[in-house]
Amino acid sequence: FRGIKVDDDDFGLMLYDPAFKNTASCRSAITLIDGDKGILRYRGYPIEQLAEQSTFLEVAYLLLWGELPNESELAEWSDQITNHTYVHQYLIRGMEGFKWDAHAMGKMVSLLGTLSTFYEDSKQVRDASVRREHIIKIIAKMPTIAAWCFRHMQGRPYIYPDNELGYVGNFMNMLFRMAEPSYKPNPVIARALDVLFILHADHEQNCSASAARAVGSAETDPYCSLAAASAALYGPLHGGANEAVLRMLREIGNVGNIPGFIEGVKNRERRLMGFGHRVYKNYDPRARIIKGLAHEVFAVTGKNPLLDIALELEKIALDDDFFVSRKLYPNVDFYSGLIYQSIGFPVEFFPVLFAIPRAVGWLAQWQEMLSDAEQKIARPRQIYVGADKRDYVPMSERG
Ligand code: ACO
Repeated sequence: FRGIKVDDDDFGLMLYDPAFKNTASCRSAITLIDGDKGILRYRGYPIEQLAEQSTFLEVAYLLLWGELPNESELAEWSDQITNHTYVHQYLIRGMEGFKWDAHAMGKMVSLLGTLSTFYEDSKQVRDASVRREHIIKIIAKMPTIAAWCFRHMQGRPYIYPDNELGYVGNFMNMLFRMAEPSYKPNPVIARALDVLFILHADHEQNCSASAARAVGSAETDPYCSLAAASAALYGPLHGGANEAVLRMLREIGNVGNIPGFIEGVKNRERRLMGFGHRVYKNYDPRARIIKGLAHEVFAVTGKNPLLDIALELEKIALDDDFFVSRKLYPNVDFYSGLIYQSIGFPVEFFPVLFAIPRAVGWLAQWQEMLSDAEQKIARPRQIYVGADKRDYVPMSERG
């Protein structure tokens, strides 16, 4: 394009695509989204089948290595993850530096970056075996760091990993175990979290995956690349939306206040959080699964009183031309927060519950980017709209 010029002084052609709405930044074989049809597949497998029949660690293997593992591959993979759940004791010193009630996601972003200082060899990003080693470490340590952020927030002592428990069981143990050593994760809740992890594991070139790829393209180590991705996820328009939905439902308070709230949205005073998506112009398939899952969880925890507000909001919005004409449907964040809240998580922790499984997607995208000979350092251009050349004005002449 830059070679197409009307004369020698001409800049040439350049594609202007703010927010990359219509730009494919890479070729990828990991995740397919057909936003018009509401389809999501990991490595070709429909998300509905994976949510029903698979487990998070199996899906992690699939996303990272391209195929479902056989029995021995899965056993080995699970063993490797289990062996790396502990974090260096000095990481606690980093944790202790945070204000106890600081947002858990801010702590996660910082601690992921901090982890890079423990693993100098992780900078060898062109070495596939080094990459694999740190991919395993990150997937293993995410729940430990997250659970410790949770305990720090509550002023409770950290619980060390129990490698006899599964990925989610160990996470729940580190979160919720009190003084007695007999804590047993409820199997319905453990399975629900596992399914939520599957649903959140990857979503192609979203804001945080693009951040992981862009920062990783500078050959930055995976810990810092994922710190950047987590920072992107933190925002309320991305992974922070689950938290924003819960705050919104609380603010609405009861079903009678919904019409007034919807009017405010239509007058552009606010957005209906958990609605709309850059790619889905149809019902987000993950939201459909999560809506079903919510009922299973509520059978154990008791119904979340905010559910009625969410259901009524959805009903009204899907029957209102403002939302219908703009193809605004519930996204993954609309119902997930209700489940998290019923399990006992404070809203500030919701984005962290998104980041743990999404680390797998970031790592899969990061690895694919590094293995693709066509990928170079990410470096978009711009359309310059500033001043023409002008001479420096001394202070005394500036008026
Ligand atoms: N509530 C009200 N109106 C909305 C909403 C919403 N949630 N989302 C989009 N719109 C409207 C916009 O006002 C705009 O209307 P207009 O054309 O009349 O100006 C139109 O729909 C298109 O909106 P855009 O902002 O251009 O859509 P975009 O693709 O840039 O944004 C986004 C997508 C950020 C997800 C947006 O829908 C949003 O803000 N949703 C609420 C936050 C949210 O739930 N985020 C989670 C997304 S899923 C995830 O990241 C995991």
